[in-house]
Amino acid sequence: MQLLDGKKIAGAIKLEIRDEVQKIKEHGGKIPHLAAVLVGHDGGSETYVAYKIKDCEEVGFKSSLIRYEDDVTEVQLLNKIEELNADTDLDGFIVQLPLPEHISEQKIIEAIDPKKDVDGFHATNVGRMVIGLPTFVSATPFGIMELIKRYDIETKGKNCIVVGRSQIVGRPISILLSQKGVDATVTVAHSRTKNIKELCASADILIAALGSPGFVSKDMVKEGAVVIDVGTTRVPSKETKSGFRLKGDVLFKEVAQKCSFITPVPGGVGPMTRVSLLSNTLLAAKKKIYS
Ligand code: GUN
Repeated sequence: MQLLDGKKIAGAIKLEIRDEVQKIKEHGGKIPHLAAVLVGHDGGSETYVAYKIKDCEEVGFKSSLIRYEDDVTEVQLLNKIEELNADTDLDGFIVQLPLPEHISEQKIIEAIDPKKDVDGFHATNVGRMVIGLPTFVSATPFGIMELIKRYDIETKGKNCIVVGRSQIVGRPISILLSQKGVDATVTVAHSRTKNIKELCASADILIAALGSPGFVSKDMVKEGAVVIDVGTTRVPSKETKSGFRLKGDVLFKEVAQKCSFITPVPGGVGPMTRVSLLSNTLLAAKKKIYS
């Protein structure tokens, strides 16, 4: 079994991005600039946004954090998005989800200029991904594809089962894996799928993205399979400073004995997701997607 070390690969990609930023600086170019909009004080969102800002600093990007209280109105947020869309210094921005219930997430996402939508959530960018045009691919599927590429994992003709059909992970990764040149045969399994255990056990590549801690046990994994664990459920822990730890969708210890490659949690998909936002911001700054 070989570990798919997302932490190591993400570290290498970060250095590549930092080198590019250095070159841009040396040539007197504009430093890539990412902004994050954070509404309220949800613990998870606070942590994720703090990481995004820290990651920007580490590679030499400029970053901005725009905060609102929970009672911000949809109109106020839409006005800010209009302002950010028009800001010529800003290459990309994200609005951290979830948003309070009185705000339509879809309306907010659709208000973002697709050219600055480095989350890749806008329908235009999702559509471009579906038809194989250059686009901002959302960070987790982008990171998984990069991990597969960098470990040289064969995908052509492989039987791939994606468990979970979320808009930001399951659905997009299923599309990317079946694209021409990647050529996996993909099945998307979900809560209504029959015989899910047997189906998972038929996978050459198993992507667990359902957010159910420890869902995948060893009897659900084929000998020699590649297992990618997207689960990051926060569970209480007395052993960490933060008071919680991340738990994946896969029972790592028992599954690791059976597979050829596996991602750990933490240190697998998570760091790849984080670095992919930086990659998208660099692509935006270099006008690589919409030239
Ligand atoms: N909430 C959880 N993951 C994400 C993400 O990737 N982007 C945004 N904007 N919000 C999130």
